[in-house]
Amino acid sequence: MTRAGPAPEPDIAGRLRAGLAALAGIGRDPTTGGYRRYGWTAAELACREWFRAEAAVRGLDCRSDGNGNLWALWGSSWAALPDGGGDVVATGSHLDSVPDGGAYDGPLGVLSAFLAVDLLRARGMTPTRPIAVVAFVDEEGTRFGVSCLGSRLLCGAIEPDRALALTDAAGVSLAEAMRAAGADPATAGLDRALLDRIGAFVELHIEQGRGLAALGGPVGLATGIWPHGRWRCRFTGQANHAGTTPLADRCDPMLTFANTVLSARKKARLAGALATFGRVSVTPNGTNAVPSSVDGWLDARAADEQTLHELVAEVGRAAAERGGRDGVTVAVTAESVSAAVTFDARLRTRLAGVLADLPGGAPGGVPELSTGAGHDAGILAALVPSAMLFVRNPTGVSHSPAEHAEDADCVAGVHALAAVLADLAGLVDPAGAVHKAGR
Ligand code: GLV
Ligand code: MN
Ligand code: MN
Repeated sequence: MTRAGPAPEPDIAGRLRAGLAALAGIGRDPTTGGYRRYGWTAAELACREWFRAEAAVRGLDCRSDGNGNLWALWGSSWAALPDGGGDVVATGSHLDSVPDGGAYDGPLGVLSAFLAVDLLRARGMTPTRPIAVVAFVDEEGTRFGVSCLGSRLLCGAIEPDRALALTDAAGVSLAEAMRAAGADPATAGLDRALLDRIGAFVELHIEQGRGLAALGGPVGLATGIWPHGRWRCRFTGQANHAGTTPLADRCDPMLTFANTVLSARKKARLAGALATFGRVSVTPNGTNAVPSSVDGWLDARAADEQTLHELVAEVGRAAAERGGRDGVTVAVTAESVSAAVTFDARLRTRLAGVLADLPGGAPGGVPELSTGAGHDAGILAALVPSAMLFVRNPTGVSHSPAEHAEDADCVAGVHALAAVLADLAGLVDPAGAVHKAGR
């Protein structure tokens, strides 16, 4: 254990702005101002180059796992790490985006992880357990339809054969996309050896609702994630002429789809759940033709699994019933389903204790809240003690170019993450105080 003297506190606000500015030009649509950084596309790969450069500047040992997730290690090298032991404390998030996503969803967690390392180093601290900064690949699942692809593959939550065969809108498979980026699809899948080295994972993320704004703190702690999923609903009718086919003679899948959107909304409201059709694909998509088919993707979320699955079943039944009247068949296929997550209670209690001691927190301790948004931490939680920190989002808007967090709150997030890492990684400070390591 080394005991270096402290350097002046780094300008975290300045580094945060510089980091966001470095990423700002990557994959940004000039018309909407939103980000289009889909998994394994040039934009996401450019973000990954940024990650490698940030790791290199800090002298961190950076490697990609077999699934394309990037890991930059402080306090050891990957080659020197013993097998198993759960020594590594991992922190990070993702760099990809939804269509027209905001600047913070994902990148804030990765950037904050690097800045927390900077802060701890400047204080002269050295970890007794290595800290890994991670960027998971394709968290949003925008390109291949399945969310958290990188973390799911890592954790064995999806079979590699199924994942590699997934295709994007242009028919390119994940295997082909990986190969095109220089990655070997044969290495995709569960990585027990890597997981066995990780003792804890903490993901910092902008909050994607107004929970913290209401609770009055810049930083909060996640209790869990609602069960949620994506179901592809295919409505198949008959293509026909818009100008000559009497209404009574039509088998119009758009009509069935439209009714299904309305019924999903009503059923979700009655169940206290959420249902969204945010993506639709019409074939052949001609102005003057009754479509032959419509694909609509149902995103559904609820506080518990029974409510979620009943809601999806009810939406499917209502769609089929309406389809029967419209001469349309309906097929509902689950594409990506995530079970309810409760974050590790011991880790949460420990983090709450650390955060309670931080200056500038909310009166009465750190706010704790659940979320309806999915995260890589939710996937890792099945195998590794995991936790999440949320940074206040004043409007709650997310998955939108308007997503925003105040600099001061992001800086508070970096300080909170640094305190948590110092505690979990057993950092030694120059005054000789050891923050106890533990799992
Ligand atoms: C991830 O952002 C999700 O869709 O929940
Ligand atoms: Mn997101
Ligand atoms: Mn995210």
